[in-house]
Amino acid sequence: MAFQITKAVIPAAGLGTRFLPATKAMPKEMLPVVDKPAIQYVVEEAVAAGLHDVLMITGRNKNALENHFDRMTELEATLEEKGDVDRLKKVEYSNDLADMHYVRQGDPRGLGHAVLRAHMHVGREPFAVLLGDDLIDERDVLLSRMISEQAARNASVIALLEVEPEAAHLYGIATVEATETEDIVRITDLVEKPVNGTAPSNLAIIGRYVLQPEVFDVLERTQPGKGGEIQLTDALQVMASENIAGGVYGVVFRGRRYDTGDRLDYIKAIVQLAVERHDLGPELRPWLKQFASSLD
Ligand code: G1P
Repeated sequence: MAFQITKAVIPAAGLGTRFLPATKAMPKEMLPVVDKPAIQYVVEEAVAAGLHDVLMITGRNKNALENHFDRMTELEATLEEKGDVDRLKKVEYSNDLADMHYVRQGDPRGLGHAVLRAHMHVGREPFAVLLGDDLIDERDVLLSRMISEQAARNASVIALLEVEPEAAHLYGIATVEATETEDIVRITDLVEKPVNGTAPSNLAIIGRYVLQPEVFDVLERTQPGKGGEIQLTDALQVMASENIAGGVYGVVFRGRRYDTGDRLDYIKAIVQLAVERHDLGPELRPWLKQFASSLD
């Protein structure tokens, strides 16, 4: 019988230097996307896919993350006294969203190093990794499909998205072959952030992975790669090319994904999500149209 995955690992130890000074004293994962911190979308996505055990890999300066997923007694008491039930619900929602665990990364030595910090907690089970910079629209299915593919194929599964060739140098890029299923491919090679013009395809890894526990053994012996960091992509490249623990498959995602990792994409993500909200969209949409026509 296939193992039922329950654990999600969310690396959140990055320094967020692209958003300075906003991230001087606050983790970048707490930046609001409309009115929710980016990290809450990611935890909600994990929970929606049945992953209730969430391990966050944090670092110094990340206390706000732990506080956000815990009770805020004074604030809750004040809202209760005022009878502000709507806001109280919003505040309480993240308290018991998932069974939260935290481990610190110490020196940030790359994504592969961060994932390796999850070894003790995860043990010898398949598990998911969700990167906080990528938000997947809750109306589009991705993680649960990856989880069922992992179980069916007894292999590791990564999420792929077709990107413009000019953007390939920002991602891990996959070389693939077709399978019997239209949106599932078998990975034959992976390269982390190829130099402009050298990408073997336009299939980029987006930040969702469902991995076999053997990835920990491979990561243990993975040497620093691109940027002098231990890269998860390099470990998965070894698993794919040596067919370790069933090899690596990709789910080609064609839904809506929002990138909150750099300032311009972050602004776009907020506008896209706000326009579709029932409470903000009806007023924002006509304003946005008018504003756009006033440009130039
Ligand atoms: C990481 C991974 C990269 C992947 C990307 C997805 O890079 O190393 O392979 O394509 O996430 O967002 P980062 O964006 O953290 O530099």
